[in-house]
Amino acid sequence: MQSDSVQFNNLPKRVTLVEVGPRDGLQNETAVVPVKVKLQLIELLSDAGLSVIEATSFVSPKWVPQMADAEQVMQNLKQRNAIRYPVLTPNMKGFERAIAAGAKEVAIFGAASESFSQKNINCSIDESLNKFLPVVEAAQSQNIPVRGYVSCVMGCPYEGEISASRVAEVADKLYQMGCYEISLGDTIGTGTPLVAERLISVVSEKVPLDKLAVHFHDTYGQALANIFAVLKMGISTVDSAVAGLGGCPYAKGASGNVATEDLVYMLDGMGIQTGIDLAKLVSASMMISNYLQKQPSSKVASAFLG
Ligand code: HMG
Ligand code: MG
Repeated sequence: MQSDSVQFNNLPKRVTLVEVGPRDGLQNETAVVPVKVKLQLIELLSDAGLSVIEATSFVSPKWVPQMADAEQVMQNLKQRNAIRYPVLTPNMKGFERAIAAGAKEVAIFGAASESFSQKNINCSIDESLNKFLPVVEAAQSQNIPVRGYVSCVMGCPYEGEISASRVAEVADKLYQMGCYEISLGDTIGTGTPLVAERLISVVSEKVPLDKLAVHFHDTYGQALANIFAVLKMGISTVDSAVAGLGGCPYAKGASGNVATEDLVYMLDGMGIQTGIDLAKLVSASMMISNYLQKQPSSKVASAFLG
């Protein structure tokens, strides 16, 4: 029955999850989480079967003190062969730090909103692309894959509505520059399913569907519905964060990413493979939630705990 409905709905048979909890999640906590706890979280996520874990971020420690320990995280991480650990690198300084610390994959992060670009990385969209270019060139010369993010794809905290064609333009530039995949970030979680569908339909005119990922925050409780809408269009890579952690220090009021537990539960229920063990994932969620002394923002984790 399940496989019939999978075919009928044109859903992918397998979805790759990009776990962003250790980066997107912990960058937004007021308390700086010790390196030991970050490493333990990454280990538990690895044990649960995540194959891509965004480990940290080589941004300015003045801008995001929560990620000031990026070197220590990367250097002490026991990288497993089957797992990729991308890290954020906004410029050459970040790239050089990341490579020196042992990173084997990086991500650059632009935006479809001028105001957000200024607030988040202190430059215009065009200036940001100029800063990303040498990062991509240096990465390519060392066979380091580069992922590209576009933020504010369904709304900006400063500008409000953002047009899908603007998103497509920035996504296309990052793709043409050499990013192997473009992750579309609903940074403030304002999107709804039909807007998400339209976004994918417009952006996929520039960047092939199989090179697109979605990164949906859940501020308004729409993330799972938005993900379901775009899976039906052929998207098969989805970013999520354990315990629904996440947010951006430069997007006030935005809450966490879609919880990895909730996403895995939905995909399991539709017979879509992820390679992730939900019970082990919930253990990772409990560990970090206990450490942060808060309830996980995940319905599934709450249901597991009764
Ligand atoms: P800036 O101040 O314009 O940088 O910041 P600058 O180039 O003018 O340099 C100023 C100083 O910073 C210099 O030091 C540089 O060396 C240093 P000084 O000479 O004064 O001693 N510096 C650095 N130090 C360490 N690492 C670096 C680095 N770069 C410069 N990489 C910058 C520009 C981009 C660095 C800053 O704005 C920044 O770090 N921003 C990052 C903000 C951030 O991390 N936001 C969250 C991640 S994005 C996100 O969450 C969205 C996403 O999840 C998708 C979605 O949800 O939509 C990805
Ligand atoms: Mg994010």
